[in-house]
Parts: sequence; C-alpha cells; structure tokens
Amino acid sequence: MRTILVIGIGAGNPDYLTVQAISAMNRAEVFFMPDKGEEKAGLNAIRLTMLERFVAKPLYRLVDFAIPSRRRADTPGYRDAVNEWRDKLEAAYQRMFAELGEDGVGAFLVWGDPTLYDGTLRILKDMQGAGWELAIEVIPGISAPQALAAQHQVTLNRVGEAVTIITGRRVGEGEADELSSAVVMLDNHQVFRRFAGEEAEIFWGAYLGTADEILVAGKVGEVMDEIERVRTEAQTKNGWIMDTYMIRKPETD
Ligand SMILES: C[S@@+](CC[C@H](N)C(=O)[O-])C[C@H]1O[C@@H](n2cnc3c(N)ncnc32)[C@H](O)[C@@H]1O
Repeated sequence: MRTILVIGIGAGNPDYLTVQAISAMNRAEVFFMPDKGEEKAGLNAIRLTMLERFVAKPLYRLVDFAIPSRRRADTPGYRDAVNEWRDKLEAAYQRMFAELGEDGVGAFLVWGDPTLYDGTLRILKDMQGAGWELAIEVIPGISAPQALAAQHQVTLNRVGEAVTIITGRRVGEGEADELSSAVVMLDNHQVFRRFAGEEAEIFWGAYLGTADEILVAGKVGEVMDEIERVRTEAQTKNGWIMDTYMIRKPETD
C-alpha cells in the first residue's frame, strides 16, 4: 500500500521542525511540492532548505503540482467554489500518487500544522473514502498561532478563558465582536480596525519565524496605522505576505 506522510513543518523557522518530522522526511521517496505564485515560491524555497539541511541521503524526487486558483472568500458561491477547487486538487493528487510505486512513500511538507486551515488531510481522507488504498500518517507541526504567541511572549488564553481561532472574513462579519480573545488568520482586509474603539490590544506578526519577521503590539487604536504601513511596505518588497494576530479585549470582572 502507498504511504502518504503529511508532515507539519512549522510556520517558518526550520528550527520548528520536530524530530518526528525529520525522521518522516528521511523516509519519503517523493515530496509533492505545491506550485503557485510568489507566496508559494517563497514557501517552497524554505521547504527546499529544510530538505537540504535535514535529509541525510538526498535520494528523493520532487514532484510539483499546480494549486488551482480559487475564488475570493468574499464573493458569492464561495462554498461551491471551495468544493470545485478541492475536486481539482484531488485529481492532481491522484495523478501524483500514480507516480509512486505500489509500496511507495510520498510526503507533503505542510506549512505550520496540517490540522489547522489546511486542506491536504481532508482531500486524502476523501480519497480513502472513495476507495483509494492509502496509509496516511500525520506529523504535527508548530502552527502560526503558536509561533505568534511565542514571539510576543504572551499566552493565547487568559486564566480559565476560551480562545478562538478565526478567519479575517468571519471577524469582518462580526463573529469575534463578543469574544475576549481571538487569533485571526487569513486576513486580507486588516479587519482589526473594528476593535479600535474598545481599548483592545493586538499582537501582530508577519513572516513569523523567518528572517523577515515583523512584530507589532499595542492598543489597536494606537498601532493600527503602523501595522498597515509596515504590512504594505513588506508586501510590496516581498510580493506576498503572511500575517497573523491576536486580539485581546480588556479584562472584565
Ligand atoms: C492556509 S493558512 C495555513 C496555516 C498553517 N497550517 C498553520 O498551522 O499555521 C495560512 C495563514 O496562516 C498564517 N500564517 C502561516 N504562517 C505564518 C507566518 N510564518 N507568519 C504569520 N502568519 C502565518 C497566516 O494568517 C496565513 O494567512
């Protein structure tokens, strides 16, 4: 049976790789490399550096696969578009797995942790459900929220409180308005501005764990312009940006 390793590689710093991830990388014959746009090129450069540094015998092959483009989350028919996108990716996976021998071992190097805002595992599970004989192994990685909290030296939750991880789109729709803390990912519209009047704090980080890392923290109302400025500057310079932040409301008794 073919084995597919879904390896969480951490959110940027090669030192985030776990010993389990390195062992798994050394078992793979083929690495499936996503291929799309400047952002993915930047991330793939980091993946390649990790392979060079941590795979003892570089006998592996790289197989590129195109990530189909997807409709923006704020346009109508988004759910259907996501399903269509996932079907296209599944077809690409099927073609790639045909390149593996019957007992071959292939691996995806998934950014951060494979169980957080990543579709790889779901597609593989759908394929198993559709009758594909695959042995799947999932290796956890350090996610962007964990990297963010570590770099800012803050805990994600206050004592006894919940913490929610949420997309920028949902925050924009008001879903985080009543939460005491929220970690926001995938935000293209800087929706943190909606918390400016509430004395809320923001802990913001871009390119966490990489040489380009930028951190800004403070009251939302006081630092939001600064975040927008450095964000735009970095995006222009690098051609892409990845940022995450935590919003924390003042404590109420
Ligand atoms: C598709 S999600 C993947 C998340 C990943 N699986 C994880 O565990 O962190 C991509 C989002 O993660 C966040 N992200 C990932 N890596 C990051 C980094 N190094 N710095 C800041 N944000 C990051 C950004 O919000 C980005 O839009």
